[in-house]
Amino acid sequence: MSTTFIHGGIVVSATGSQPLDVLIEDETIAAVVRPGSTALGADLAATAATVIDATGKYVIPGGVDGHTHMQLPFGGTEASDTFETGTRAAAWGGTTTIVDFAVQKPGERVQDSLALWHEKAAGKCAVDYGFHQIVGSVDGESLEGMRELVSEGVTSFKLFMAYPGVFYSDDGQILRAMQTAGDLGAVLMMHAENGIAIDVLVEQALSRGETAPYHHGVTRPWQMEEEATHRAIMLAHLTGAPLYIVHVSAKQALEQIAEARGKGQNVFGETCPQYLYLSLEENLGAPGFEGAKWVCSTPLRARAEGHQDELWRYIRTGDVTTVATDHCPFCMKDQKELGLGDFSKIPNGIGGVEHRMDLMFQGVKDGRISLEKWVEVCCTAPARMFGLYPRKGVISPGADADVVIYDPDGHTSIGLGRTHHMNMDHSAYEGFEIDGHVDTVLSRGRVLVDAGQYLGSAGHGRFVKRGLSQNLI
Ligand code: URP
Ligand code: ZN
Ligand code: ZN
Repeated sequence: MSTTFIHGGIVVSATGSQPLDVLIEDETIAAVVRPGSTALGADLAATAATVIDATGKYVIPGGVDGHTHMQLPFGGTEASDTFETGTRAAAWGGTTTIVDFAVQKPGERVQDSLALWHEKAAGKCAVDYGFHQIVGSVDGESLEGMRELVSEGVTSFKLFMAYPGVFYSDDGQILRAMQTAGDLGAVLMMHAENGIAIDVLVEQALSRGETAPYHHGVTRPWQMEEEATHRAIMLAHLTGAPLYIVHVSAKQALEQIAEARGKGQNVFGETCPQYLYLSLEENLGAPGFEGAKWVCSTPLRARAEGHQDELWRYIRTGDVTTVATDHCPFCMKDQKELGLGDFSKIPNGIGGVEHRMDLMFQGVKDGRISLEKWVEVCCTAPARMFGLYPRKGVISPGADADVVIYDPDGHTSIGLGRTHHMNMDHSAYEGFEIDGHVDTVLSRGRVLVDAGQYLGSAGHGRFVKRGLSQNLI
């Protein structure tokens, strides 16, 4: 048996922070004890095979990113991170579990699309991974497929109210999928934007010669997100399906979510660091074609409209349940460039799997959220949301030994050539300075990152069969 002893640090959980030492045996947390405790019988600092001095540091559960897209075929190309490069970058940033999306194309069985995603990921990942299933064509066969997938540990399904002709489902299809999800107790994840109306706005903008990346944001106004969010909530209410609205960027959509939650409905909101830090004016509106780096949907919102303050507030109230990255990287060269002269052809997505823990810790430093809220939205709540708890998302006996030692007095300067391990030719957060640092990362007891060195390997990460959500009211 291999033992690791982490001592001297402050263990931070979603509910509190205290000085505690952590004993790991092989892949599992064996004990969490008060410093100096003799309960374990031996001087572990002298006898454990690996001893980590965490004095002055936070000891937190490994991050759980509930929304990533490695190798996603999208927008005429494929997301530039493979499962190998993307999960290695995740490890660098203190994320030890991702939940990625298998994609069912029309005409394909959901079971076959899941098998394909298993093939892409198996033997490649640096950290543990699970899958959600995107249902690209809702029909009798795919509804039956959803039942089978739940028994295989894929317990959440994403539908799109956006992207007509690609992933789009109409209201009847959504209703049917929600009925099935409600029946199964599975989480229905929704991309909530009115894609039919957006396509009209896009066509009108292009016909006026408004072709720059900035117009991606302008043609997807908050009304499109609020309306779709409301519609999804109503359909979920009718069917009893637990509803998780992904990548929420508009404060008005969050008002809808908060109202439904206030009435006791199982509705959950996810936001992403890009919506908390980046904006329509400064990023999508950058000169020339530069704004393409930040084309994603839902889009970055106008800073002047006050969405960011409200998103942070809704994180504090709990109406934003989780913070994920929606990591969907595309290079500028040959990928984002597909939309030169026509913003609607820019592949949608931003890469950030490496930076979520740091960017959210900056929220602690800036007084936006508490230390415990940081751990809650980045680790514990996503684990509970997606049926991974208490194996993931918590430091307690019996849990997987996924642990991050975080230095609150360290510094991280985000940018290409500095802290960038994602397979992208730019960073969406170039120049961001973070008042903290991921020092050491363990996944199931194995040290993946320590003192600026990568010690992990492709294939260490395993598929995790998920249970049903543990977040339901
Ligand atoms: O722009 C985005 N969000 N790209 C990834 C696909 C999705 O809708 O989540
Ligand atoms: Zn989406
Ligand atoms: Zn996504």
